[in-house]
Amino acid sequence: MVQKVWYTYDDIHKTVKNIAAKVQNSGVQYDAMIAIGGGGFIPARMLRCFLDIPIYAVTTAYYLNETEGKTADKVQKIQWLDPIPETLIGKNILVVDEVDDSRTTMEFVLNELIKDGFNQIGVAVIHNKLKDKVGKIPEGIAYFSGLDIQDWWINYPWDAVDIDAHNRRAASGVQEA
Ligand code: G4P
Ligand code: MG
Repeated sequence: MVQKVWYTYDDIHKTVKNIAAKVQNSGVQYDAMIAIGGGGFIPARMLRCFLDIPIYAVTTAYYLNETEGKTADKVQKIQWLDPIPETLIGKNILVVDEVDDSRTTMEFVLNELIKDGFNQIGVAVIHNKLKDKVGKIPEGIAYFSGLDIQDWWINYPWDAVDIDAHNRRAASGVQEA
C-alpha cells in the first residue's frame, strides 16, 4: 500500500519559509533563482517573498524510455536558458524544485547548469524524500530542503481540483490509498 500525504498551501508556505532561513544562514548571497518547471514555479515564487531575488526558469519533462527491451528514465529539455542571460554569468544561482525524489531530473538539470559558468550553485526543494536516490547532486553544490519526509506520495495543493476536499484530507494526516 502506498502511503499518501496532502499538504495545504499554508503548510507549503511555512516549509518554504524554513528553506529561506536555511539559505539566508548559509552565508552565500544568491543572485537569482532558476525554477525547474512545472513543479518548481510555485515554490520559487513563494521563496521570492523571503529572498527577494529574480526568478528564471527552465522546464523539463520526465519520461520512461524503452530501448532494446530496457526501460530507463530520461529527462528532456522543454525550455532552457539558451544562451544564459549575460546578467547571470558568474553569479550565484539557486535552483528550485518542489520535490527531491529520485534525483533523476535534478542531476540532469544541475549537470547542464554547471557548464554555464555560474559562480556558486545551490539547490532548494520543499520536500526531500528519504530514500535511495538514482541521481547524484554534483560536488560543490549547496543543498537546502524545507522538510525531509518518508518515501510517501505527496499531493500538492496546486494539483487539487477541489481545494476544500484537499485541505480536509490534509487535516486527516498521512493515509493509505
Ligand atoms: P527529482 O530529480 O527532483 O528527484 O525528480 P524525479 O525526476 O524523481 O521526478 C519525476 C517527476 O515525478 C517530477 O515531475 C516530480 O515532480 C514528480 N514527483 C515525484 N515524487 C512526487 C510526489 O510525491 N508527488 C508529486 N505530486 N509528484 C512527484 P516532473 O516530470 O518534473 O513534472 P512537473 O510536475 O514538475 O511538471
Ligand atoms: Mg518537476
